[in-house]
Amino acid sequence: MPGTEGREILIRRAEIEKRVRAVARQITRDFRGERIHLIGVLKGACIFLSDLIREINLESSIDFIAVSSYGRGKESSGQVRVLKDLDSSIAGLNVILVEDILDTGLTLSYLLRVLRQRRPKTLRVAALLDKPSRRLKPVEANYVGFKIPNEFVVGYGLDYGERYRNLKDVYVLHLPEDGTH
Ligand code: IMP
Ligand code: MG
Repeated sequence: MPGTEGREILIRRAEIEKRVRAVARQITRDFRGERIHLIGVLKGACIFLSDLIREINLESSIDFIAVSSYGRGKESSGQVRVLKDLDSSIAGLNVILVEDILDTGLTLSYLLRVLRQRRPKTLRVAALLDKPSRRLKPVEANYVGFKIPNEFVVGYGLDYGERYRNLKDVYVLHLPEDGTH
């Protein structure tokens, strides 16, 4: 129900900027002299990816993939499938999969399986946010912006029913019927 949720700031934009720069520096160091290929997981990662890539000092290219998500609500169905595939082959490339948030790990473990079959040279994961306490699959990101507690968050690309992606800070969203997540 629009307008009935409360929210409070969890991570301010200045902190996000600082961490994004630090992650980009780390990637730049790790892949010095090489070319990288960033794959953004639509739609949540698009803001993170666009800030991240501008701070990476390497020859870079971009592609996007879309998978089925939470839909309008907060809970994952556990079923993942590709809604929009990559435009081009990743064979032989240094791929960095860029995610907005690593939660249960269902999406990521599925994507890593799909992408590994396509024979990239290397395959790493950058996630802006990580909720380790929610993990159902044993997957980790190589680059993490922030580890956060088990709260539903929005802003900086993350949505609730497609809303709030444009907020510049990350907020905890409190829903009226909250208590399950
Ligand atoms: P996972 O498959 O459970 O790891 O979920 C990954 C996807 O769920 C993310 O890419 C988000 O789109 C969505 N998601 C998980 N937690 C949150 C949250 O706190 N706020 C908004 N979206 C979330
Ligand atoms: Mg979403």
